[in-house]
Amino acid sequence: NKKISIAIDGPAAAGKSTVAKIVAGKLGYVYVDTGAMYRAITYKILKMKIDIKEESLLRQLLSETNIELKPATNGQIILLDGKDVTNEIREAEVTNTVSSIAALGIVREEMVLRQQQMGQDGGIVMDGRDIGTHVLPHAELKIFLLASVEIRAQRRHLENVQKGFPSDLVKLKEEIALRDKQDTEREISPLRKAENAVEIDTSNLSIDEVADEILALAMERM
Ligand code: C5P
Repeated sequence: NKKISIAIDGPAAAGKSTVAKIVAGKLGYVYVDTGAMYRAITYKILKMKIDIKEESLLRQLLSETNIELKPATNGQIILLDGKDVTNEIREAEVTNTVSSIAALGIVREEMVLRQQQMGQDGGIVMDGRDIGTHVLPHAELKIFLLASVEIRAQRRHLENVQKGFPSDLVKLKEEIALRDKQDTEREISPLRKAENAVEIDTSNLSIDEVADEILALAMERM
């Protein structure tokens, strides 16, 4: 079997990472959560109170920043300069700032380069917003996951409640919609379905059904 590349894109909270993890696990592929990379750099910028208008500072920060994605039993651990920030990068402040940081050309250039290096040998499942359109334009399989903002907010809400995290459904819906708007309307590699991507509406599908559909499409391309 040929080792292919699988790109999974779509709006916030569409279940991309959950499904991508399952698919990568079943195929024995590497899973790369590119959103986690943007979140990690956002976390560092917030923590260090970097003024993003200072281009040279931002460039230097990027060149000095090490982000590692390490496989773990329940998914992936994110190391920022060697420190585990897996939970910190999911906090509200990061979530609500990440789209404005991810819109910066300097930031995207660097992250895309790193992602392309990770993906160069194939055998990879990468999820994000611009994977099929920019990061892995030659991926053998491109998926675009969709679900209404109501359904996505409800799923995220349930997830939070189950984890015992505070959660406000109305606020979640607003935040998801705003992030989608920012990601879709930004100038540099906005969120778009790649021309040759397979669209999957997950509204009425379970996680396993979505994963199985992607696995079947992957088998056809190996
Ligand atoms: O996937 P996740 O929701 O964790 O991504 C967080 C944010 O990172 C997105 O809302 C988007 O602004 C940015 N992102 C991006 N390009 C990617 C992945 C994520 O701009 N490939």
